[in-house]
Amino acid sequence: MRILAFNSSPRDNQTSKTELVLQKFLEGARRAGAETETLYLRDYKIKHCLGCFSCWAKTPGRCVQKDDMAEELFARYLQADLAVLATPLYYYNMNARMKMFIERTLPMVAPGASADQGGVSYRFERVPKVAVISVCANPAMDTFRCLSLNMQMILGDLLVAEIYRHTSEAMIAPPLAAKVQEVLAAVSRAGAELVRQGQVQPETMAAATQDLAPPELIMQLSKEYWEREMGEV
Ligand SMILES: Cc1cc2nc3c(=O)[nH]c(=O)nc-3n(C[C@H](O)[C@H](O)[C@H](O)COP(=O)(O)O)c2cc1C
Repeated sequence: MRILAFNSSPRDNQTSKTELVLQKFLEGARRAGAETETLYLRDYKIKHCLGCFSCWAKTPGRCVQKDDMAEELFARYLQADLAVLATPLYYYNMNARMKMFIERTLPMVAPGASADQGGVSYRFERVPKVAVISVCANPAMDTFRCLSLNMQMILGDLLVAEIYRHTSEAMIAPPLAAKVQEVLAAVSRAGAELVRQGQVQPETMAAATQDLAPPELIMQLSKEYWEREMGEV
Protein backbone atom coordinates (compact mmCIF):
# COMPACT_ATOMS: atom_id res chain seq x y z
CA MET A 1 0.00 0.00 0.00
CA ARG A 2 1.32 3.43 -0.97
CA ILE A 3 0.37 6.08 1.55
CA LEU A 4 0.84 9.73 0.72
CA ALA A 5 0.34 12.18 3.59
CA PHE A 6 -0.40 15.88 3.20
CA ASN A 7 0.33 17.98 6.29
CA SER A 8 -1.16 21.49 6.21
CA SER A 9 0.32 22.85 9.44
CA PRO A 10 2.32 26.03 8.94
CA ARG A 11 4.50 25.12 11.91
CA ASP A 12 7.92 23.49 11.70
CA ASN A 13 8.17 19.76 12.35
CA GLN A 14 9.58 20.19 15.87
CA THR A 15 6.63 22.34 16.98
CA SER A 16 3.70 20.94 14.98
CA LYS A 17 1.50 18.53 16.90
CA THR A 18 -0.19 17.53 13.63
CA GLU A 19 3.24 16.29 12.57
CA LEU A 20 3.75 14.47 15.87
CA VAL A 21 0.52 12.52 15.51
CA LEU A 22 0.87 12.03 11.75
CA GLN A 23 4.37 10.57 11.97
CA LYS A 24 3.31 8.12 14.70
CA PHE A 25 0.42 6.99 12.50
CA LEU A 26 2.74 6.53 9.51
CA GLU A 27 5.27 4.67 11.65
CA GLY A 28 2.57 2.10 12.44
CA ALA A 29 1.53 1.92 8.80
CA ARG A 30 5.13 1.19 7.76
CA ARG A 31 5.37 -1.51 10.42
CA ALA A 32 2.40 -3.15 8.71
CA GLY A 33 4.17 -3.03 5.34
CA ALA A 34 3.02 0.24 3.77
CA GLU A 35 5.28 2.67 1.93
CA THR A 36 4.79 6.21 3.20
CA GLU A 37 5.73 9.70 2.14
CA THR A 38 4.82 13.07 3.65
CA LEU A 39 4.35 16.29 1.70
CA TYR A 40 4.09 19.62 3.50
CA LEU A 41 1.56 21.89 1.85
CA ARG A 42 3.46 24.93 3.15
CA ASP A 43 6.26 24.03 0.70
CA TYR A 44 3.97 24.28 -2.34
CA LYS A 45 2.29 27.05 -4.26
CA ILE A 46 -1.43 26.28 -4.32
CA LYS A 47 -3.76 28.89 -5.76
CA HIS A 48 -7.43 29.25 -4.86
CA CYS A 49 -9.98 27.36 -6.94
CA LEU A 50 -11.34 29.78 -9.57
CA GLY A 51 -14.80 28.19 -9.59
CA CYS A 52 -14.73 28.16 -13.40
CA PHE A 53 -15.72 24.47 -13.73
CA SER A 54 -13.31 24.11 -16.65
CA CYS A 55 -12.23 20.87 -14.97
CA TRP A 56 -15.79 19.57 -15.53
CA ALA A 57 -16.50 20.97 -18.98
CA LYS A 58 -13.69 22.46 -21.10
CA THR A 59 -10.62 20.56 -19.81
CA PRO A 60 -12.21 17.46 -18.21
CA GLY A 61 -10.30 16.18 -15.21
CA ARG A 62 -7.72 18.93 -15.41
CA CYS A 63 -7.43 22.34 -13.75
CA VAL A 64 -6.61 25.28 -16.04
CA GLN A 65 -4.35 26.93 -13.48
CA LYS A 66 -0.58 26.64 -13.48
CA ASP A 67 0.76 25.95 -10.00
CA ASP A 68 2.10 23.06 -7.91
CA MET A 69 -1.38 21.61 -7.42
CA ALA A 70 -2.11 21.35 -11.15
CA GLU A 71 1.39 20.34 -12.11
CA GLU A 72 2.34 17.92 -9.34
CA LEU A 73 0.19 17.42 -6.25
CA PHE A 74 -3.10 16.42 -7.87
CA ALA A 75 -1.49 13.66 -9.93
CA ARG A 76 0.40 12.38 -6.90
CA TYR A 77 -2.80 12.41 -4.83
CA LEU A 78 -4.54 10.25 -7.42
CA GLN A 79 -1.69 7.74 -7.50
CA ALA A 80 -1.81 7.00 -3.76
CA ASP A 81 -3.71 4.02 -2.39
CA LEU A 82 -4.37 5.98 0.76
CA ALA A 83 -4.09 9.75 1.20
CA VAL A 84 -3.70 11.05 4.75
CA LEU A 85 -5.03 14.58 5.13
CA ALA A 86 -3.44 15.98 8.29
CA THR A 87 -4.58 19.39 9.42
CA PRO A 88 -4.47 21.45 12.60
CA LEU A 89 -7.93 22.44 13.79
CA TYR A 90 -8.47 26.14 13.15
CA TYR A 91 -11.79 27.61 14.24
CA TYR A 92 -13.37 24.16 14.55
CA ASN A 93 -12.43 23.05 11.07
CA MET A 94 -9.52 22.21 8.76
CA ASN A 95 -7.16 25.11 8.24
CA ALA A 96 -7.39 27.27 5.13
CA ARG A 97 -4.39 25.65 3.48
CA MET A 98 -6.01 22.20 3.67
CA LYS A 99 -9.34 23.62 2.45
CA MET A 100 -7.60 25.13 -0.54
CA PHE A 101 -5.99 21.78 -1.33
CA ILE A 102 -9.31 19.92 -1.08
CA GLU A 103 -11.14 22.46 -3.26
CA ARG A 104 -8.53 21.90 -5.93
CA THR A 105 -9.35 18.15 -6.04
CA LEU A 106 -12.62 19.05 -7.80
CA PRO A 107 -11.25 17.79 -11.18
CA MET A 108 -11.58 14.21 -9.88
CA VAL A 109 -15.32 14.61 -9.24
CA ALA A 110 -17.75 13.69 -12.01
CA PRO A 111 -19.80 16.67 -13.29
CA GLY A 112 -22.97 17.47 -11.41
CA ALA A 113 -22.26 15.10 -8.54
CA SER A 114 -23.08 16.15 -5.03
CA ALA A 115 -22.79 14.10 -1.84
CA ASP A 116 -26.17 15.16 -0.48
CA GLN A 117 -27.91 14.21 -3.73
CA GLY A 118 -27.20 10.50 -3.58
CA GLY A 119 -23.44 10.22 -3.61
CA VAL A 120 -20.43 11.72 -5.33
CA SER A 121 -18.97 9.81 -8.27
CA TYR A 122 -15.51 10.18 -9.67
CA ARG A 123 -14.28 10.49 -13.22
CA PHE A 124 -11.12 8.46 -12.60
CA GLU A 125 -11.17 4.69 -12.26
CA ARG A 126 -9.38 4.80 -8.96
CA VAL A 127 -9.18 7.59 -6.45
CA PRO A 128 -7.47 7.21 -3.07
CA LYS A 129 -9.19 6.27 0.12
CA VAL A 130 -8.60 8.95 2.75
CA ALA A 131 -7.66 9.03 6.43
CA VAL A 132 -8.03 12.36 8.23
CA ILE A 133 -5.80 13.38 11.11
CA SER A 134 -6.31 16.51 13.17
CA VAL A 135 -5.20 17.99 16.46
CA CYS A 136 -6.70 20.73 18.59
CA ALA A 137 -5.72 22.55 21.77
CA ASN A 138 -9.08 22.35 23.51
CA PRO A 139 -9.26 19.33 25.87
CA ALA A 140 -12.42 17.75 24.41
CA MET A 141 -13.21 15.42 21.52
CA ASP A 142 -16.39 17.24 20.57
CA THR A 143 -14.25 20.18 19.41
CA PHE A 144 -13.82 18.11 16.22
CA ARG A 145 -17.50 17.61 15.44
CA CYS A 146 -17.67 20.27 12.73
CA LEU A 147 -14.49 19.01 11.03
CA SER A 148 -15.69 15.42 11.24
CA LEU A 149 -19.07 16.19 9.69
CA ASN A 150 -17.37 18.27 7.01
CA MET A 151 -14.94 15.48 6.10
CA GLN A 152 -17.72 12.87 6.04
CA MET A 153 -19.78 15.02 3.69
CA ILE A 154 -16.84 15.83 1.41
CA LEU A 155 -15.34 12.35 1.26
CA GLY A 156 -18.32 9.99 1.70
CA ASP A 157 -17.24 6.37 1.22
CA LEU A 158 -13.64 7.37 0.57
CA LEU A 159 -13.18 8.26 4.23
CA VAL A 160 -11.72 5.22 6.02
CA ALA A 161 -10.41 6.68 9.29
CA GLU A 162 -10.53 9.82 11.41
CA ILE A 163 -7.81 10.25 14.03
CA TYR A 164 -8.46 13.28 16.21
CA ARG A 165 -6.20 14.27 19.08
CA HIS A 166 -7.42 16.92 21.51
CA THR A 167 -5.27 18.68 24.18
CA SER A 168 -2.56 18.83 21.52
CA GLU A 169 -0.46 21.61 22.99
CA ALA A 170 -0.15 19.84 26.34
CA MET A 171 1.43 16.81 24.64
CA ILE A 172 4.89 18.20 25.34
CA ALA A 173 4.24 18.93 29.02
CA PRO A 174 6.69 16.79 31.08
CA PRO A 175 4.12 15.73 33.74
CA LEU A 176 2.00 14.14 30.97
CA ALA A 177 4.84 12.28 29.23
CA ALA A 178 3.80 8.76 30.25
CA LYS A 179 0.20 9.26 29.14
CA VAL A 180 1.32 10.86 25.88
CA GLN A 181 3.49 7.80 25.14
CA GLU A 182 0.40 5.60 25.62
CA VAL A 183 -1.61 7.81 23.28
CA LEU A 184 1.09 7.89 20.60
CA ALA A 185 1.51 4.11 20.81
CA ALA A 186 -2.23 3.81 20.14
CA VAL A 187 -1.97 6.20 17.17
CA SER A 188 0.82 4.03 15.80
CA ARG A 189 -1.37 0.93 16.26
CA ALA A 190 -4.15 2.75 14.41
CA GLY A 191 -1.83 3.17 11.42
CA ALA A 192 -0.94 -0.53 11.48
CA GLU A 193 -4.57 -1.63 11.84
CA LEU A 194 -5.72 0.52 8.98
CA VAL A 195 -3.14 -1.08 6.69
CA ARG A 196 -3.72 -4.66 7.87
CA GLN A 197 -7.46 -4.66 8.52
CA GLY A 198 -8.79 -1.65 6.63
CA GLN A 199 -10.11 -0.09 9.80
CA VAL A 200 -9.08 1.11 13.23
CA GLN A 201 -10.35 -0.95 16.16
CA PRO A 202 -12.61 0.86 18.66
CA GLU A 203 -10.30 0.10 21.61
CA THR A 204 -7.36 1.59 19.71
CA MET A 205 -9.36 4.70 18.95
CA ALA A 206 -10.39 4.96 22.62
CA ALA A 207 -6.74 4.75 23.71
CA ALA A 208 -5.67 7.36 21.12
CA THR A 209 -8.35 9.82 22.16
CA GLN A 210 -8.21 9.34 25.94
CA ASP A 211 -7.85 12.33 28.25
CA LEU A 212 -4.26 13.18 29.14
CA ALA A 213 -5.10 14.37 32.65
CA PRO A 214 -8.00 15.73 34.74
CA PRO A 215 -9.28 19.11 33.43
CA GLU A 216 -7.88 21.03 36.43
CA LEU A 217 -4.32 19.87 35.69
CA ILE A 218 -4.69 20.70 31.97
CA MET A 219 -5.95 24.19 32.91
CA GLN A 220 -3.04 24.67 35.29
CA LEU A 221 -0.43 23.54 32.72
CA SER A 222 -1.98 25.80 30.08
CA LYS A 223 -1.94 28.80 32.44
CA GLU A 224 1.69 28.15 33.35
CA TYR A 225 2.66 27.77 29.69
CA TRP A 226 1.13 31.09 28.65
CA GLU A 227 2.60 32.89 31.65
CA ARG A 228 6.05 31.62 30.60
CA GLU A 229 5.44 32.64 26.98
CA MET A 230 4.42 36.13 28.08
CA GLY A 231 7.43 36.39 30.34
CA GLU A 232 5.37 36.73 33.51
CA VAL A 233 7.39 34.16 35.44
C1 LIG B 1 -5.93 30.43 13.90
C2 LIG B 1 -6.04 29.30 14.89
C3 LIG B 1 -7.28 28.79 15.20
C4 LIG B 1 -7.41 27.75 16.12
N1 LIG B 1 -8.64 27.25 16.40
C5 LIG B 1 -8.78 26.27 17.32
C6 LIG B 1 -10.07 25.75 17.65
O1 LIG B 1 -11.09 26.12 17.07
N2 LIG B 1 -10.14 24.82 18.63
C7 LIG B 1 -9.04 24.37 19.29
O2 LIG B 1 -9.17 23.55 20.19
N3 LIG B 1 -7.78 24.79 18.96
C8 LIG B 1 -7.65 25.73 17.99
N4 LIG B 1 -6.39 26.20 17.65
C9 LIG B 1 -5.19 25.56 18.27
C10 LIG B 1 -4.54 24.53 17.34
O3 LIG B 1 -5.46 23.56 16.89
C11 LIG B 1 -3.40 23.83 18.07
O4 LIG B 1 -2.46 24.80 18.47
C12 LIG B 1 -2.72 22.75 17.23
O5 LIG B 1 -1.75 22.09 18.00
C13 LIG B 1 -2.09 23.32 15.97
O6 LIG B 1 -1.55 22.28 15.21
P1 LIG B 1 0.00 22.28 14.80
O7 LIG B 1 0.74 22.24 16.11
O8 LIG B 1 0.21 21.07 13.99
O9 LIG B 1 0.25 23.51 14.01
C14 LIG B 1 -6.25 27.22 16.74
C15 LIG B 1 -4.98 27.74 16.41
C16 LIG B 1 -4.88 28.78 15.50
C17 LIG B 1 -3.51 29.31 15.16
